Amino acid sequence: MAAINQVVDLSKDGEIAVVTVNSPPVNALSADVRDGLAGAFAAIAADSAVKAAVLACAGRTFIAGADISEFGKPPRGASLPAVQDAMESAPVPVIAAIHGTALGGGLEVALCAHYRVSDAKAKFGLPEVKLGLLPGAGGTQRLPRIVGAKKATEMVTSGAQMGAKDALATGLVDEVVDGDLTAGAIAFARRVVAEGRPLKKVRDDASKLGGDAASLAPFFAEFRAKNAKAFKGFEAPEANIKCIEAAVALPFDEGLKVERTEFMKLMTGLQSAAQRHVFFAERAAAKIDGLPADVQPLPVKKVGVIGAGTMGGGISMNFLSVGIPVTIVEMKEEALTRGVGIIRKNYQNSADKGRFPQSEVEARMGRLTPSLNLEDLADCDLIIEAVFENMAIKKDIFGKLDKIAKPGAILASNTSYLDVDEIASATNRPEYVLGMHYFSPANVMRLLEVVRGAKTDPQVLATAMAIGKATGKIAVVAGVCHGFIGNRMLARRQQQANLLMLEGAAPADIDRVLTDFGFPMGPFQMSDLAGLDIGWNAETSKGETVRDRLCEAGLRGQKNGKGFYVYDEQRNRTPNPEALAIIDAYAAEKGINRRTIDDQEILERCLFPMVNEGARILAEGKAQRASDIDIVWINGYGWPVYRGGPMFWAEKDVGRDRIIAVLEQMGEEESPVLKDGWK
Ligand code: 3HC
Repeated sequence: MAAINQVVDLSKDGEIAVVTVNSPPVNALSADVRDGLAGAFAAIAADSAVKAAVLACAGRTFIAGADISEFGKPPRGASLPAVQDAMESAPVPVIAAIHGTALGGGLEVALCAHYRVSDAKAKFGLPEVKLGLLPGAGGTQRLPRIVGAKKATEMVTSGAQMGAKDALATGLVDEVVDGDLTAGAIAFARRVVAEGRPLKKVRDDASKLGGDAASLAPFFAEFRAKNAKAFKGFEAPEANIKCIEAAVALPFDEGLKVERTEFMKLMTGLQSAAQRHVFFAERAAAKIDGLPADVQPLPVKKVGVIGAGTMGGGISMNFLSVGIPVTIVEMKEEALTRGVGIIRKNYQNSADKGRFPQSEVEARMGRLTPSLNLEDLADCDLIIEAVFENMAIKKDIFGKLDKIAKPGAILASNTSYLDVDEIASATNRPEYVLGMHYFSPANVMRLLEVVRGAKTDPQVLATAMAIGKATGKIAVVAGVCHGFIGNRMLARRQQQANLLMLEGAAPADIDRVLTDFGFPMGPFQMSDLAGLDIGWNAETSKGETVRDRLCEAGLRGQKNGKGFYVYDEQRNRTPNPEALAIIDAYAAEKGINRRTIDDQEILERCLFPMVNEGARILAEGKAQRASDIDIVWINGYGWPVYRGGPMFWAEKDVGRDRIIAVLEQMGEEESPVLKDGWK
């Protein structure tokens, strides 16, 4: 085998050349890989003994795309189009041998081969849209020429992957190989040569597009309408659609020009920068500062959950769904039966929607053991408490658990605010105690704040992070402080929203400004949804806050059809005049001078103090890195992913100077970290 460079090899099996990319972890198309491929295909073109070439990858996957870490940096090495051109116009047939995931630029390279073969597990996709981009190396022009414009539109706007079976059916691959892939690809290459099959160029065949501009116009119109809500705020989906339209309407090279123009617009824009930031931030979040490299997570084979309410039930589902048995404990039979019933109903709903077969509902429920006895948790590796937010109750439970749980079992609290160290102090094993803060609905929301106590053992922390990942969560390490990362920042937004409301902004306007920004819901919609009376007590209510007065007037939110809004049968909402009158009266009583407040002030006052709080969290070391805060807000609170999270937005969009200026006007002291910046 001859090395073209350190990441690409060229060898020969008789008259078949084999190009192998070996650039861990995912064979991304870095400058070195591109240079290596350019060198290999130049050598192949110059070697008359070569009759066909196979392009394969070492390691876990075929090329998984362009190297995202190179984006935004000055270009180096051979360009991707030059590499693709060298393959497509090679004098001999080129066969891509695909395993793992051929994604983005990886699939686009494969589409420049004359034939493609894969193993049975291979997956194919153009996920650029998830990075705020579109396939910029011909993918929007070549893919529809194989799978048709309709399927391609779906794939490029969702980033969805296609399996080998469908790839074979659509002609995206020519053969699915059993056994050794490279050997199978070489055998396939020999057959192509022996049969004198043509050098098929995807670009030259428009027969599978599935229609022309006129006949497909209704499809594109419908597709846009159907997805308007999902695409709201994002620039990339529309740009992707435009490119597929161009593939249908224009000759290949003209279509390619449209793709290039649209790609460059996205690539230089803020949304893609934000979404690329989120890609790396998600992966960074899994890394634990100061964790010795040899620390392995402990096995979690059996889980205990205390509390069968909404949280406990949702938390249990995470484990049941991935095959981990759960014992769920409640105090009263009735609550236990209700909780278990809801879990079953949720699974049944999914089965009814066709997400999995009925047998899977039974399999999942079969892993659940309901119990009224804490002692039944004795053999669990991880026990998660999800009862009331009350320190005395939690300490009592942890004291008992400490005696019941086997040595080495991890005891976690799902508290959203309370001091995990104090909870841990109720046990003789504080090093095995931490917080695992799930977000409601816990079986759906991807965020998990893993709260590291002062004494939490690193291996215990690593275990909670690993089990989070294994159950499909994005786990973020937080330190002990009131509300951890997410709720601590949320409190600042809520505080400003309440002040703005008293100073003259209508709740509906505050909600509108935040939903226009990209949040799925504003703070007052959220209060109505949660119930205004959460934590409110009619016996002790003194009418001291607007919330007290709303509750006293019988306004409870969505549950009784009236809160900040009134709701009709279909849950359509209109501002509630009764609530507005209560707010007016309250403000008058407090002597607050009400005024017109513009949208910019609403937005800045709601979000800037939150960023400041994020900076404080960083200064106190309660978050490991600014990007973890972004991940919390995107996955737990609906911060729009195309704005990259509050810290990214503050730094790259608004600018820290503007935030500092506004905070000063507001009389709020800024964190030194906000002044100095963060990494
Ligand atoms: N560029 C640079 N680094 C990449 C990368 C890429 N395209 N894809 C993955 N990586 C890195 C990750 O950052 C991670 O690094 P780390 O270990 O330092 O954190 C490492 O590779 C492993 O990645 P994962 O942890 O995600 O590994 P998984 O096995 O879970 O997943 C994967 C593998 C499915 C390939 C997943 O990494 C993935 O989806 N990657 C992105 C694929 C993609 O978006 N491709 C399109 C790129 S844009 C493009 O091609 C533009 C073109 O059209 C011109």
